[in-house]
Amino acid sequence: MNYMELIRQRYSCRRFADRPVETEKIETIIEAGRLAPTATNAQPFRIWVIRTPEALAKARTVTRCHFDAPVLFVIGGKPDTAWVRQFDGRNFADVDATIVATQMMLAVEELGLGTTWVGWFDAPKLQELFPAMQGYDLVAMFPVGYPAADAVPAPKHTQRLSRDEIAEDL
Ligand SMILES: Cc1cc2nc3c(=O)[nH]c(=O)nc-3n(C[C@H](O)[C@H](O)[C@H](O)COP(=O)(O)O)c2cc1C
Repeated sequence: MNYMELIRQRYSCRRFADRPVETEKIETIIEAGRLAPTATNAQPFRIWVIRTPEALAKARTVTRCHFDAPVLFVIGGKPDTAWVRQFDGRNFADVDATIVATQMMLAVEELGLGTTWVGWFDAPKLQELFPAMQGYDLVAMFPVGYPAADAVPAPKHTQRLSRDEIAEDL
């Protein structure tokens, strides 16, 4: 599968099979994030893997969008150690963490797994439950698993702006 095929095939999967995800695949997803580019190569991010029954039970209390997936990833950017653009003081921690998360999301697809980028979760509560996440800007939660046999894209999946609505030649 080439890159454009991968992008076209991906959709937000919200229904998972009752099947565990192999540790090798979890490590490949982490590796896809590890290799992401970051501003000044500061690498101001962290990836948390939630897969024990106890940790999953805790994490599932902060969102309805866990979709009972067997694994949850959380990705955070660390403003303290990120590049700050001197012209306007912009901190790039969220940009860096988002690139990491995007690479991970596409790796999930390539591995035959499914996920949805979840932003709807109570981040302060999650940080209270998992103190290691404090001090990070939590940009994504990814419920990951094998898509259920009846998993399908939601109608929004096919609703995209046209080329001319999103790009212009100046
Ligand atoms: C930053 C971001 C946050 C999102 N948060 C949620 C969420 O909390 N819950 C959810 O079900 N989907 C969430 N989504 C998925 C979008 O709804 C979905 O990507 C969009 O409708 C397009 O559908 P597709 O991914 O199937 O192409 C989020 C996507 C992004 C990029």
